[in-house]
Amino acid sequence: DWKMDHFVEHTVKALREKVGDGKVLCALSGGVDSSVAAVMLAKAVGDQLTCVFVDHGLLRKNEGDEVEEVFGPNGPYKLNFIRVNAQDRFYAKLKGVEEPEHKRKIIGEEFIRVFEEEAKKIGKVDFLVQGTIYPDVVESGLGGESAVIKSHHNVGGLPDYVDFKEIIEPLRDLFKDEVRKAGLELGIPEKLVYRQPFPGPGLGIRIIGEVTAEKVKMVQEADAIYREEIAKAGLDRGIGQYFAALTNMRSVGVMGDERTYDYAVALRAVNTIDFMTAEAAEIPWDVLGIVSSRIVNEVPHINRVLYDCTGKPPATIEFE
Ligand code: XMP
Repeated sequence: DWKMDHFVEHTVKALREKVGDGKVLCALSGGVDSSVAAVMLAKAVGDQLTCVFVDHGLLRKNEGDEVEEVFGPNGPYKLNFIRVNAQDRFYAKLKGVEEPEHKRKIIGEEFIRVFEEEAKKIGKVDFLVQGTIYPDVVESGLGGESAVIKSHHNVGGLPDYVDFKEIIEPLRDLFKDEVRKAGLELGIPEKLVYRQPFPGPGLGIRIIGEVTAEKVKMVQEADAIYREEIAKAGLDRGIGQYFAALTNMRSVGVMGDERTYDYAVALRAVNTIDFMTAEAAEIPWDVLGIVSSRIVNEVPHINRVLYDCTGKPPATIEFE
């Protein structure tokens, strides 16, 4: 793609001139936008860039390690990479909390606190990088629908808790598909470039009710099986967003000769144009069959798998 080729080359050059010999800080989430922004800066200024990656223990299975593989010391980019393993802090704060907005608030605030602590250790930086893309700009300007229904902690707003001179938003003019093209152009692995949208509060809002380390493990395993089978069936690029969520319902089942009383997992898959509205995707019955039997056989304490047929509205895409 010559246009994107040009955009990337031009932007990297412009960033290099702008930053000069300054210090740059980036909060890396592992999502497409922050990853593409980080790589652009890494190409432009190398180790003048420090990326802070907060693992809040609410990421998908193996996701933390996958981010580290790309951005860490053994990856292709010579940047400073700091991974903060803050799982226990987040789980402690979430203990006993059931209300969705309360959970979102706690996760958002703790995220800022952890990032702030790391930023303090680094000291004064000249630039802060944000992976803001064009729809974020528009949505925050209009007070976007999802911002009203659910509080997003990772969109918009200038952080005042980091000591920096100027903000850099290299993707501000791009739509999502253009960000992906730029990512491919920059040589970022396809797996990362075509990652599904993943909410900032992560699995914290895909576990209905109280979050515990055990429940995180359950939903991670179920979700990994679901994604693996969807990919195997060749459906992964054809569905807008799909994931497993852990309900807080327990029900009776039978395993061998034993009665079980365990949790139900809900599978969600939607097609959507703009995530403002969505319809449930029709996943072939045989694929759902394989997924559900694998989940109940491989994931302890799950004995039932449900499929969510609801559109948005009236449901939202996420469960909380
Ligand atoms: P809902 O559940 O509101 O989700 O229908 C619409 C889209 O937004 C994503 N989502 C989030 N993204 N931070 C984000 O960056 C959040 O807090 C958040 N909550 C929901 C959701 O995954 C879907 O793609």
